[in-house]
Amino acid sequence: MTGPSSGVGPGSRLGPYEIRSHLGSGAMGEVYLARDSRLGRDVAVKVLPADRLTDVDRRRRFVQEARAASALNHPGIVTIHEIDTAEGIDFIVMEYVAGQPLAALIPSHGMRLTDVLALAIPMAEALSRAHAAGIVHRDLKPANVMVGREGVVKILDFGLAKLVSPDGDVDERDTTTMDAVGEPASRAGRIAGTPAYMSPEQATGAKVDARSDVFSFGALLYEMVTGRRPFVGATTEETLAAVARDPPRAPSALVTGLPHDFEKLILRCLQKDPDRRFQSMLDVKVDPAAERERLSKERTATERDVIGAKAKLGNEGFVSRAPAAVVEQERARLAASEAKLSKLDEQLRRLAS
Ligand SMILES: Nc1ncnc2c1ncn2[C@@H]1O[C@H](COP(=O)(O)OP(=O)(O)OP(=O)(O)O)[C@@H](O)[C@H]1O
Ligand SMILES: [Mg+2]
Repeated sequence: MTGPSSGVGPGSRLGPYEIRSHLGSGAMGEVYLARDSRLGRDVAVKVLPADRLTDVDRRRRFVQEARAASALNHPGIVTIHEIDTAEGIDFIVMEYVAGQPLAALIPSHGMRLTDVLALAIPMAEALSRAHAAGIVHRDLKPANVMVGREGVVKILDFGLAKLVSPDGDVDERDTTTMDAVGEPASRAGRIAGTPAYMSPEQATGAKVDARSDVFSFGALLYEMVTGRRPFVGATTEETLAAVARDPPRAPSALVTGLPHDFEKLILRCLQKDPDRRFQSMLDVKVDPAAERERLSKERTATERDVIGAKAKLGNEGFVSRAPAAVVEQERARLAASEAKLSKLDEQLRRLAS
């Protein structure tokens, strides 16, 4: 057990690590801010449940995978310093990120598009680097992304999802103990990862590859943009069923001003069939400059339509002589162009930095 029963808490020690304060709780246990007394640096210590690393072989494989992600030395991936045991307690020592988890930064109505892009672009970059090295995250979600000072993005828990499984080899069948809202559930769950962000293949216990992370990344983008999760259920089972079966509601039905291409990108990540998603994080590209240019051009053309229609309707000769139906048509055209113009303005505002 972790938490109070493990005896770990502020003021206690784990080997050379002085535990300072509690940072958060997750499916595996508690995370603490600690001081490495030898190196004089702050670290984050994640205490693992007692039964997770008993099998020597399993421990070796797990350590290998967790190290592989850190070995990439990518600024967007939290470095794991070591995996150790002291006083009979297994723990992971990692880089401490001063900041907030992305989960705490998403307002209920969604984030501004510029903020989404500022975080999503480096996240996608870090993920593709890990994928290129053959490492799949498996539990990408807002609680596993830290946003540090000056908006620096760091992905947490790379390769750790495998640890959540209560039974040995979890290369294909991963397991978790999370419920639908991402809180630790009391009973042992069946599947690793967090149901709301899990790919359908992961939700059904099938083999996962990098494309599963593409799906979770899509779920994350969806929530950043709309403030809501794409798949929701009252229970873990219902959430998993929604992930596997239901098409997500179009983000544009939830927020205004979302550029069409960005919505398309999110929905492509969220395709049920991995073959229909982006096949690599490298293809998940959002180019805000190109999008801005496209919208500006469309805006110029729409503004011209508005001016043209207004000029016609302002011409007394036209209004008095043209058949009523034609005048009516022109009025409808003006209204439509004006509506389009304000929608484009809203989209441009969302993209503006
Ligand atoms: N390296 C770190 N630096 C700073 N804070 C951290 C670090 N690692 C974790 N935290 C904090 O602790 C919280 C709990 O982390 P933890 O990974 O245990 O839980 P989780 O991500 O919600 O679930 P899971 O167990 O599925 O990963 C995080 O949401 C974050 O706020
Ligand atoms: Mg985590």
